[in-house]
Amino acid sequence: MKFFLDTANIEEIRDAASTGILDGITTNPTLISKEGNTFEDQLLKICSMVNGPVSAETVSRDAAGMVDEGRHLAKLHPNIVVKCPMTKEGLRATKILTEERIRVNVTLVFSAPQAIMAAKAGAYFVSPFVGRLDDIGESGMDLIETIVTIFNNYEFKTEVLVASIRNPIHVVQAGLMGADICTMPAKVFDQLLKHPLTDKGVEQFLKDWEKVPVIK
Ligand code: E4P
Repeated sequence: MKFFLDTANIEEIRDAASTGILDGITTNPTLISKEGNTFEDQLLKICSMVNGPVSAETVSRDAAGMVDEGRHLAKLHPNIVVKCPMTKEGLRATKILTEERIRVNVTLVFSAPQAIMAAKAGAYFVSPFVGRLDDIGESGMDLIETIVTIFNNYEFKTEVLVASIRNPIHVVQAGLMGADICTMPAKVFDQLLKHPLTDKGVEQFLKDWEKVPVIK
């Protein structure tokens, strides 16, 4: 299972990358807009910090615009994966970019038929948004289970990137279902490694260690 951070924030990326288990980054226009830097400059900074895929989203509404943007973004750095939205135009752009060997992450996926369409267009990643489905009373993780099953049935090479993750339970369920990647906010990345009994145990061991005689 690969762990991506869903952020464009340099400090958050530095902190998570220093653990040595960060596999990639996803960004979106909202995340980029929080950083007060140009898109290209922020992407290059991120790419210099993470040895893995860095998703960068196109903002055109038509396929031609997405293709132009995608070509430009892909040229910036070998780590870049171009994000296209799950629309008909996005699908057209995905097919064209994929045929040019540019990797595409099809984003804003909310149903199994959409995921199948993205895979058939040659998407490198497909990003179902589990948290946003939960928010409207649908089960995001049920969708992941369905997509993983379908992709396995047909041996689609497209990787399932679980997005819009809100908590560690989403990550554990994604693991049980065999999803390829989880992209999560820094808060969830940190939550994954925390347990109160670990903290309590460390405190107790360090306190007891003080009672061990030392050679003078
Ligand atoms: C994924 O690529 C998206 O950037 C992200 O996971 C969206 O998550 P949100 O629903 O928390 O905004």
